[in-house]
Amino acid sequence: MSLFHTLPIFLCIIFFTSTTTSTTLPPSSPSFPSGLSYHIDCGSPTNSTDQFNTTWLSDRYFSGGATGIVSEPLRFRHGHEKTLRFFPISSGKKNCYTIPNLPPSRYLLRTFVVYDNYDGRSHPPSFDVAIAATVVFSWRSPWPQSLARDGAYADLFATITASSEALICFYSFATDPPVVSSIELFAADPASYDAAAIGKNDSVLVNYGRLSCGSKQWGPGFSNDSDRFGRSWQSDSDFRTGRSKVRAMSTRSRISGTEQKPNYFPEKLYQTAATAEEGGGVLEYELSVDAKLDYLVWLHFAEIEERVRRVGERVFDVYINDDNLTRVDIYKQVGGFAAFTWHHTVKNLSSSVLSVKLVGVVGAPLICGIENYALVPSDPSTVPEQVVAMKALKDSLRVPERMGWNGDPCAPTNWDAWEGVTCRTSKNNTALVISQIDLGSQGLKGSISDQISLLSDLVSL
Ligand SMILES: *[C@@H]1O[C@H](CO)[C@@H](O)[C@H](O)[C@H]1NC(C)=O
Ligand SMILES: *[C@@H]1O[C@H](CO)[C@@H](O)[C@H](O)[C@H]1NC(C)=O
Ligand SMILES: *[C@@H]1O[C@H](CO)[C@@H](O)[C@H](O)[C@H]1NC(C)=O
Ligand SMILES: *[C@@H]1O[C@H](CO)[C@@H](O)[C@H](O)[C@H]1NC(C)=O
Ligand SMILES: *[C@@H]1O[C@H](CO)[C@@H](O)[C@H](O)[C@H]1NC(C)=O
Ligand SMILES: *[C@@H]1O[C@H](CO)[C@@H](O)[C@H](O)[C@H]1NC(C)=O
Ligand SMILES: *[C@@H]1O[C@H](CO)[C@@H](O)[C@H](O)[C@H]1NC(C)=O
Repeated sequence: MSLFHTLPIFLCIIFFTSTTTSTTLPPSSPSFPSGLSYHIDCGSPTNSTDQFNTTWLSDRYFSGGATGIVSEPLRFRHGHEKTLRFFPISSGKKNCYTIPNLPPSRYLLRTFVVYDNYDGRSHPPSFDVAIAATVVFSWRSPWPQSLARDGAYADLFATITASSEALICFYSFATDPPVVSSIELFAADPASYDAAAIGKNDSVLVNYGRLSCGSKQWGPGFSNDSDRFGRSWQSDSDFRTGRSKVRAMSTRSRISGTEQKPNYFPEKLYQTAATAEEGGGVLEYELSVDAKLDYLVWLHFAEIEERVRRVGERVFDVYINDDNLTRVDIYKQVGGFAAFTWHHTVKNLSSSVLSVKLVGVVGAPLICGIENYALVPSDPSTVPEQVVAMKALKDSLRVPERMGWNGDPCAPTNWDAWEGVTCRTSKNNTALVISQIDLGSQGLKGSISDQISLLSDLVSL
């Protein structure tokens, strides 16, 4: 099952099927590489181990909702794809998974979303997904056909800081219950993908394409090949355009410079490549994107053809959206059978297609992999002590489930705040604060917690 859709409203979605090399619970080692990962089989009452030796945990860490089973289980290969959790309106508009005790780090988060008419209503839902305060996926009905049929994996890199928890929230539009079938989290190096130099530590990197050229799909969930960060790699064949004939190449030789800090790109990525058949040819790829965002593009190369043994024997130019950005001679950069990566931030897109074109100068161009991440700026969340105060208030008033008092009280700002709660941005514009609480119409009674004094911006209660 391999898909790549563009969703009409916000995000595009990707791919595959899951697994990893190890599952550790609870997290113990804060130093990277920790190998820490979680695999939650939403809707499942039992733990299980799949054919890639990944341990799936029974459903846990959710705020509410109910469990369901896809209507045609035989269509789905993996146990964790067949069960799901949905959040009916009686659980409130906003529901979350809160994965606790995570060492602060960068993490890869992967979700599998499926509908498959589990509720017999033939109506896939519209809903949003946020990590912490930032909306990252928007699923809108009607779903693209392949998504409606097979479900879809989507992933991103996000940083978890002092809060030590991953907050993954689902927001329902109208009466559609959001659905989720599995949630996975893998620790990644905090300095990965040039976090420091790009100064985008507080952006979420949403996967808009991760291709392994000249190869089938592989990685956690698809094969026993490992990837330290849990990245799965799709075949490039569906994304190639242009007229040149393309040849897939592969080698079993060792490739140097792989599996290295901070990105730990797997050796296997550089053992296959796509190259244009005739000398001086052109290799061209197109990825669907949302033109409103900026993108981080990583290209991977290795000279894996035995006959290229000198500087100047294979030279090509790299164009992104028709801008000539660099001239590459892999052999000159790193020699033969060694990994070479190049990355670039693409801004101010004018269309919903991002094109990567390699134009031969000497010999045919060659490429091993392409990654494309949308840089989604992190949105502000509620001041931490006010979150604590609101949780205390929720407990002391025994706020009913249907009011959806889950996750952050105010964020994401494009969602409604907790019912009865009004928020505004703090004076310095970096956080959200609670300005008003009105529970009068709810008939809630109870003692107001002392923590209410932490709500220093409250003007009315
Ligand atoms: C599943 O595994 C976890 C962690 O090993 C354990 O805490 C939990 O009790 C298990 N749950 C079930 C339903 O067996
Ligand atoms: C992956 O490895 C496990 C254990 O080595 C093996 O049982 C399983 O068949 C392998 N799966 C695939 C798809 O190769
Ligand atoms: C599967 O994982 C368990 C622990 O997670 C490990 O002890 C075992 O050796 C693994 N089996 C294979 C075939 O890799
Ligand atoms: C981003 O994170 C890295 C690693 O934690 C750190 O070294 C760097 O200073 C941070 N950069 C910014 C701009 O915050
Ligand atoms: C493309 O750009 C590179 C470096 O920026 C330059 O060396 C090369 O000559 C350019 N190619 C063309 C065809 O202009
Ligand atoms: C992108 O657009 C903004 C505003 O229109 C402009 O200030 C900026 O210089 C542009 N950046 C690039 C790389 O073209
Ligand atoms: C901004 O204001 C909030 C709430 O008043 C405060 O918690 C936070 O530390 C402030 N941030 C900065 C950067 O001053």
